[in-house]
Amino acid sequence: MNQYELMAKQIEAIAKEDPDRIPVLSNTSALIYDTVTDVNWAGFYLVDGDHLTLGPFQGKVACIHLYPHKGVCGTAWAEDRPLVVANVHEFEGHVACDSKTNSEIVIPIHDLRKPEHPVIGVLDIDSIFLDRFHPEDREGLELVVRMLESVTRF
Ligand code: SME
Repeated sequence: MNQYELMAKQIEAIAKEDPDRIPVLSNTSALIYDTVTDVNWAGFYLVDGDHLTLGPFQGKVACIHLYPHKGVCGTAWAEDRPLVVANVHEFEGHVACDSKTNSEIVIPIHDLRKPEHPVIGVLDIDSIFLDRFHPEDREGLELVVRMLESVTRF
């Protein structure tokens, strides 16, 4: 079992005790921050009307509101697709919450209880290293997000 498969199992166990999004997303950000190497920020932005609002996270103080099509999170949300950015300084409109961040991965999270499966937030993970996130990280983190979608009460 790789680290992301293990993480998905841990999230399943956490949600069995309480599926509410606050404890599940808080503990998920702690799991990622603790176990994925070279990560300087891991957390969630949640859809709040026409923008994203900062949710549970680990790392330095971060931007509170993000907007559709602006930066990596806003683009992943608006286009409903995962984004792996090898160099954030080359990403149009990147929102620099921490100037030390050089690469990031953002994965949209959907509400499977609604028929259209709308995006209800994004998982955002940052690294101070260029090109930190590879296909196996994307695959593993998508597995983690699929688990969140199926066990969390959003
Ligand atoms: N990097 C994000 C902003 C959020 S911070 O990284 C925590 C972006 O451009 O969407």
